[in-house]
Amino acid sequence: MRIDIISVLPELMVSPFQTSILKRAMQKGLAEVHFHQLRNWSVGKHRQVDDEPYGGGAGMVMMVEPLDKCISELKSQRNYDEIIYLTPDGETLTQKIANTLSIKNNLIFLCGHYKGIDQRVRDLHITKEISIGDYVLTGGELAACVLADSVIRLLPGVLNDEQSALTDSFQDDLLSPPIYTRPEEYKGLKVPEVLLSGHSGKIEEWRHDEAVRITRERRPDLLDE
Ligand code: ADE
Repeated sequence: MRIDIISVLPELMVSPFQTSILKRAMQKGLAEVHFHQLRNWSVGKHRQVDDEPYGGGAGMVMMVEPLDKCISELKSQRNYDEIIYLTPDGETLTQKIANTLSIKNNLIFLCGHYKGIDQRVRDLHITKEISIGDYVLTGGELAACVLADSVIRLLPGVLNDEQSALTDSFQDDLLSPPIYTRPEEYKGLKVPEVLLSGHSGKIEEWRHDEAVRITRERRPDLLDE
């Protein structure tokens, strides 16, 4: 998978891809992430990429021309499955969306800044708009990292068996059951007997019941779906 990320602040996104599991995914050639500084497509000598909104109002708007030039150049080099704009107005990211994106080959992530992007960029190029939650960040960069992480970890070969994505919270619309490791007792708190029993059928049943109980308590909306 190849992800091209367009941003005015690519330096904000460097370390997540140079650390731990994402770093290894890149080293193994399972994922490629390329950053594009939008100012390299700016028009005029001031490297301007934003301007005041027509009709007035607070905040600046990312201009259509640099974004159109940058995206068009990338599109002339390969076919993209999705061109995604990270914005609080988008569809809220879910495990289902991450699963769907993880089987694509080429993605563009566009990080918004200021008040947002000129509507014509959306009309011309954007195929999907994603929000990582109902709150507003200073820009789309951290959201792009979250989205990339959620997708890359699902690529075959990125996680090993112990880290397997198949047992994640949300993968079956349930939250995770409680987990324990050594010691068997700590400050009077004991590991549930069933987990020490070695009876795999009973353990699976307990884990499922606990997952349902916790989901009902915390996220009843997931059980309704
Ligand atoms: N940009 C600013 N806030 C955002 C959010 N919640 N999700 C995605 N992109 C954003």
